[in-house]
This record gives sequence, C-alpha cells and structure tokens, in this order.
Amino acid sequence: MNYAEIDFNNIDINGKEPITEPQRQYYFMAKCREWAKTKTLEIGRPLTYITQTFGCQMNAKDSEKLSGILELIGFVETDTEEADFVVYNTCTVRENANTRVYGRLGFLNSLKKKNPNMMIALCGCMMQEDAVVDKIRKSYRFVDMIFGTHNIFKLAELMYSRITSKGMIIDIWKDTDQIVEDLPSERKYKFKAGVNIMYGCNNFCSYCIVPYVRGRERSRNPEDIIKEIKELVADGVIEVMLLGQNVNSYGKTLDKPMSFAELLQEIEKVEGLERIRFMTSHPKDLSDSLIEVMKDSKKICSHLHLPVQAGSTDVLKKMNRSYTKESYLALVERIKAAMPDISLTTDIIVGFPGETDEDFLETLEIVKKVRYDSAYTFLYSKRTGTPAAVLDCQVEDTVAKERFDRLLKEIQAISAEMTARHEGEISKVLVEEVNQQNDKLMTGRLSNNVLVHFEGSPDMIGSIVKVSLKECKGFYYIGELVS
Ligand code: SAH
Ligand code: SF4
Ligand code: F3S
Repeated sequence: MNYAEIDFNNIDINGKEPITEPQRQYYFMAKCREWAKTKTLEIGRPLTYITQTFGCQMNAKDSEKLSGILELIGFVETDTEEADFVVYNTCTVRENANTRVYGRLGFLNSLKKKNPNMMIALCGCMMQEDAVVDKIRKSYRFVDMIFGTHNIFKLAELMYSRITSKGMIIDIWKDTDQIVEDLPSERKYKFKAGVNIMYGCNNFCSYCIVPYVRGRERSRNPEDIIKEIKELVADGVIEVMLLGQNVNSYGKTLDKPMSFAELLQEIEKVEGLERIRFMTSHPKDLSDSLIEVMKDSKKICSHLHLPVQAGSTDVLKKMNRSYTKESYLALVERIKAAMPDISLTTDIIVGFPGETDEDFLETLEIVKKVRYDSAYTFLYSKRTGTPAAVLDCQVEDTVAKERFDRLLKEIQAISAEMTARHEGEISKVLVEEVNQQNDKLMTGRLSNNVLVHFEGSPDMIGSIVKVSLKECKGFYYIGELVS
C-alpha cells in the first residue's frame, strides 16, 4: 500500500463514519491523526510506539500492518518499551509463548506508572482465548486495549474509542470471512516482504490451537496478491515470502478456484521479482503439479519446509495429519527426484500423548532417511480445547525431554553435514544486513535459506551477489565475494 494513496485532506472527520472498509479505517486514522497532533504539541515531543511480535511469520506480518497504521496516525517507532503505545502481538501455539507475555506485563505496568500517556494494547492469537481475556480483565486492569486476530485492521478505530472513553476496550471476533485490502503495512526490510495469501486453517491437527484462534481457511483473491507483489517490487522488494498455515490448499475457497501451483506461476511472471519463498506446506496437500512448477521455476527458492511432526503412522493418525510415514517418505522421494539439490526442513513434535519408545524411534528413523537441512523440534505442549489435550497417556516430562535431546543431537549432526554439501561452490546470495558481530562482514541468504557471512560493504544490502562458499561452520557459511 502506497501511503500517499490515502488522501487525508479529503476526509471529513466531523462527518459520519463510513460503513464500508477500508474507508471506515481511513476515517478513524484521520481522527487519530488530529488527536496525535494535539498530543505531540502538548508533550513537546513525538509520540512513540513499539510492536512486539511473539509468534510466527504470520504474526510478524500482522505486526507490520499494526506498525503501518501507527505510523500513519503519527507515531514514531522506538526500540524500547518506554513508549507511548506498546502493542504485544501474542502467540499461543505452546504454553511457553503465553508465559512470556504474562511475565512481561508486570514490567509494562511499572513503565506505565511513569508515563501517564502510555497505552498498552494486547492482540493476536492468545487473545482469541476466553480464559486469557478474563484473566487480563480481572488481573491486568492497566491494559488499555484487547483485540484478536480477525480485527487487527481496526486498530485506529479501537484507539479512537480508547482515547474518547474510559476503561479497557475489548473487541474479539470469534471468526470472520472478511478480508480487508488496501491498508498500510510498514515493512521491516526494504528488499523482502511477507505476503499473506490465505488466512486461517481447516486442518485441525489434534494438538494444534491455530484453527481455533485463526478461524476458518480463506484465500485472498489472486488479483489482490499480484497487485500487492507488483507494488512491493516497484518499492524495491526482490524477495517475497508467501504466507499461509497451509499454502498447498490455497484457492479452494475462491469463487473461481485456483491451485497454489497456478498462483505461483502467476507470481513468477512479475517482472523484477527475483525470489519466491512460501510457508507452510502441509504434506497431505502437496501436489505433483506444485513439484513440477517448483522444478521449472527460475524464482522459487531451492527450499521446502515440510513439517512431518512425527515418524510413526500411529502417532500421525492420532495427530490427524492425514498421511502415513510411508506416504510422507514417498512424497520426499518424488520431490528429491525432481529437485535433487533442494533443502528440506521440518517441524517435529516430541512427546505427543501416547508416544511410545518405538514410535519415537520411527521419528529418529525418518530424520535419518530424509536428511533434513534443519528441523525445528518442539516438546508437545497441551493446549486446552484441542482434542489431544484430553487424550490419555500424556508422556512424562522427563521421558519427553530425554527423547527431545536425543532427537536434537541426531538432527544437529545431519544438519551440519547437509548444510556443508555446498562447500566450494559459487552461489547467489541476497545481502540482508551488516553482520551483527563484525561490521566488516555482510550477512546474506542463499536460495536454500542458509546464511552466509562475507567481507563486503553496506551498499550491497538488498542486492544479489555471487559468493564463493569457502567454509561451512555448522549451520552457516563463511564466504568470499566473487567479482
Ligand atoms: N501450519 C503450520 C504450522 C503452524 S504451528 C503447519 O502445519 O506446518 C508451527 C509448529 O508448531 C507446528 O508445525 C508444530 O510442529 C508446532 N506445534 C503446534 N502445536 C503444538 C503443540 N501443541 N505442542 C508443541 N508443538 C506444537
Ligand atoms: Fe495447526 Fe495443523 Fe493447521 Fe498447521 S495445519 S496450523 S499444525 S492445525
Ligand atoms: Fe502462534 Fe498464532 Fe502463529 S498461535 S504460531 S502466532 S498463528
């Protein structure tokens, strides 16, 4: 969204609020802008904000949308929580994500006592749970606003309610089929961007809370997606990450159904776009035509994140994953046959209810067979309201921890070998930033998502350069620029 497209001078803030979106939000942004101007004069400095992301890439993308709205209202970003507007965009996929939020709320309260202008907003997946909202309403009275995952686009309207009334504003929608387009978004990187292609999830894996907090699956229109990508490219973006909980089922809810493979072919045509990534792929919906499109593409990166979750067909069945160990391995074979060099990564849950030693050995086996470039491993976390939470035979913590450590050791060894397989090659790197430890080095990413550090200069940031991969250091490379 090009900010200049919103003509605030033509919005009558004393008139009645529009009913249709996004015009209604533009109206509330205009009203909040007036408020922010007055406030800025009153306190003699710009109003500041910070958005804190606790969850996944989709959560991060939502934070960029919140930042976009806040910037338009007139807030200036800061990197500390000593800000006038602090928003926590929460996650609830595992218990520890919730614990982190509660842990930090106490600290926010102490900051708010020192700054009478401070507003605290909580939003995101955790807020879609009734018990959480009840607890905040009762025990965290200093919070100003609570909203969920379906109405983040309403930030300006909610803020306006807060500044014109007293008390906590709570607005949680149970679900929605609405997709509001043409709202601002403030990108973290100039040269790469996340692009939502679908929202929600219909898979109901038995351990997972996401379908309950993100609602039913709905796809964005391909025209809107392509328009956004073209605008991003015109604004300097060369890499996009297409976002959805299960991108492989893209398009099923559209009036004119379209497959994910077809969408990718359309995106490939966008001139100036160099790299396409996507996540996440559910193995049950990964089609042969997608494999073909990936194989023939000049832009789709050589990386596929293909969460396996467990190696035992028994456990997979209880997880409601809709594939077996054998069918997953067969899929991996087809992918590797088409793209021998592709990097595969995965997610694995250890300690799912009823997981036996034998089941766990099958997880180890699948890891050895597939040879992932890297894997995210999680200890099973019981989520209230999911079917797995009431299953018998929850695995004891010590047993789960022991399995987790064994798995991690195996993965690290394989991952180091797999990552090193490109040593000595010359490869294209998208330069992302100055190395955080050593400012003579630049840090960039290979097509397969592995990081490379090499001597270079900051003016390379955002461009693709050729680098010789001198030495693999486990999960990253030290390289040398090739002129
Ligand atoms: N839609 C994506 C994943 C979203 S959640 C997919 O299907 O792949 C990211 C990861 O968190 C999941 O892949 C899973 O490995 C993990 N996860 C989800 N719920 C969990 C739970 N209750 N306990 C532990 N890990 C969980
Ligand atoms: Fe959760 Fe499964 Fe949906 Fe992924 S596909 S978000 S793991 S329910
Ligand atoms: Fe967490 Fe919500 Fe993402 S629960 S993992 S932030 S979809």
